[in-house]
Amino acid sequence: MDYLAEPFRVKVVERVRRTTEEERARLIKDAGLNIFALPADSIYVDLLTDSGTSAMSDRQWAGLMVGDESYAGSRNFYKFQQTVRDLTGYQHIIPTHQGRMAEHLLFTIALTPGQHVPNNIHFDTTRAHVQHAGGKPVDLVCAEGLNPTIDKPFKGNMDLARLDAYLTEQGSNVPLVMVTVTNNSGGGQPVSMENIRGIREITHRHGVPMFFDACRFAENSWFIREREKGYSKKSVREIAQEMFSLGDGCTMSAKKDGLVNIGGFLALNNPEWSEKITNLLILLEGFPTYGGLAGRDLEAMSIGLEEVLEEDYLAFRIGQVRYLGEMLMAGGVPIVRPVGGHAVYIDAKSFLPHIPQSQFPGQSLVVELYRKHGIRAVEVGSLMFAEKDPKSGEVRYPALELVRLAIPRRVYTTMQMKYVGEAVLDLYSRRKELKGLRLTHEAPVLRHFTARLEHMEAATV
Ligand code: F0G
Repeated sequence: MDYLAEPFRVKVVERVRRTTEEERARLIKDAGLNIFALPADSIYVDLLTDSGTSAMSDRQWAGLMVGDESYAGSRNFYKFQQTVRDLTGYQHIIPTHQGRMAEHLLFTIALTPGQHVPNNIHFDTTRAHVQHAGGKPVDLVCAEGLNPTIDKPFKGNMDLARLDAYLTEQGSNVPLVMVTVTNNSGGGQPVSMENIRGIREITHRHGVPMFFDACRFAENSWFIREREKGYSKKSVREIAQEMFSLGDGCTMSAKKDGLVNIGGFLALNNPEWSEKITNLLILLEGFPTYGGLAGRDLEAMSIGLEEVLEEDYLAFRIGQVRYLGEMLMAGGVPIVRPVGGHAVYIDAKSFLPHIPQSQFPGQSLVVELYRKHGIRAVEVGSLMFAEKDPKSGEVRYPALELVRLAIPRRVYTTMQMKYVGEAVLDLYSRRKELKGLRLTHEAPVLRHFTARLEHMEAATV
């Protein structure tokens, strides 16, 4: 079979309200054409993010009932600690309320202002936390990782020659190297074990620790099994364990491959860093055996970290995302290739060549997808990333203008994905009718969250 059917059945349902096109037209206008300002219950299929939006299993819900809410020494912590040690092999396990707190703790302790942190591509919060700690984030993804049309198996790979040259040039000015699996900001593309081994060899030689941004470690391990020579007979858990064994630690947002709605952790071997991080954790999050979470959340996370490695689950999960991507490709819609692990990315520049980047083609597509079909996607393009030069006032646009359809885990049926596919194909057939947008309000930083926009009368090239 091309696509595995759902390896679960539905025990509890959540009603989704159907809205009319008129209602949505009013709601999106009131929201200033910004999907972040929409009430979520006016959305039929919500593909804003795959983070914190997973459906928990009956076992996880049952786990909530055995939450031990003791301030110190909760039994759920010991189980969680063991689960993460078994998976990663790292000694010091520090729970956090989500991924960005793990990043904040790590960079605050490990980084001295002025130092550089290489990554394949930093996710926004990772980049922001490196900068917040006074450092400089550097992206060293391989060249094909920036080309949306080239179909290669591991486009999340780091450019090893550039990494080696960079570490030679910077010497002790690099406190650690990060590797993001899968590479979210580059289309959810995986990193191969061979590449990870190469990064290990280079970082070792330069005496620099290597950390994973491990949010989607199970999906990355699945791709290694599917695509890399020598791994087809290994279990996904063995592949994940091998990957972690090559690093010195990881940050984790369990809101992705932990299959929970909130939670994260930092895991590492360095005892000095661990002690300093634990002291900071007490200041910012809470006692080390709960780290900003309830005991029940730790229990749900332990169970989620096991369930995410079930092979039927991963075959279905990766297949469902591929189903949507292949449906769009068959209809001629330009998308980032190959289809990534957690999302389908539409290339909005090719989809809407008549709208210049200064008029936000990605956002125009996002607005119409909601207005016409009740689907929420997110723009990852000029609205999110265009930068004004502070001196000349000239605007620099990002190379890629994408729209991300991120698929929550175990939440939507494949029939709902078919609905999404048909909706995008409908927009594609009417693409010439879509108009550019102009900003009416923008904040000085992270403007996409609160921006307000309006339609241009007619797009002018
Ligand atoms: N690293 C990566 C690769 C991520 O994708 C995210 C979150 C984080 C770190 C931060 O984790 O949200 O738990 O603090 N990504 C979400 C997304 C928000 O929509 O892609 P967090």
